Amino acid sequence: MKLTLGAIAAVALSTAAIASEVSPEAVEFTDDGVVVSLTGAAGDPAAGAETFKSRKLGNCLACHANTDMSTELFHGNVGPSLDGVASRWDEPQLRAIVVNSKQVFTDETIMPGFYSLEVGQHVAEKNVGKTILTAQQVEDVVAYLGTLKE
Ligand code: HEC
Repeated sequence: MKLTLGAIAAVALSTAAIASEVSPEAVEFTDDGVVVSLTGAAGDPAAGAETFKSRKLGNCLACHANTDMSTELFHGNVGPSLDGVASRWDEPQLRAIVVNSKQVFTDETIMPGFYSLEVGQHVAEKNVGKTILTAQQVEDVVAYLGTLKE
């Protein structure tokens, strides 16, 4: 009996952790951007820098130059340089761009929506219903972008 109660408590705990996260379908875009943190907490800029430069996660350097990461070998020029980006956009706007750039730019932008299920029609079966980054990874990247001030 004790064991069963423990198991129930564990399930309740993990559900609570997920419930505080905003799901991709529930992200609220306002004129100011996405105002509320997807996890309910501030992200970690150091973890965000890792996600940003990871070729398997953000892969942001594929399209953006970033002087703060000048030791990384390749920097793309498809998108604008992100030097000083936090002086051009505030946090809710940066979060909106990373979650779903189409909401800020146009439907034609080639920048992927990193926390959106609208990833186009050629998505592989195994990726249907998944986002490129988790809510936590988005918050970490947003926190890192916030450090890139002029
Ligand atoms: C496939 C290319 C591509 C990738 C990958 C990409 N972006 Fe972009 N990004 C763009 C383009 C292009 C724009 C300019 C908006 C437009 O014209 O569509 C842009 C714009 C931006 C802007 C606004 C910059 C400004 O100064 O106005 C930010 C911030 C940004 N991207 C962040 C990121 C981050 C963070 C990542 C990784 C998680 C990322 N991007 C990955 C192509 C990309």
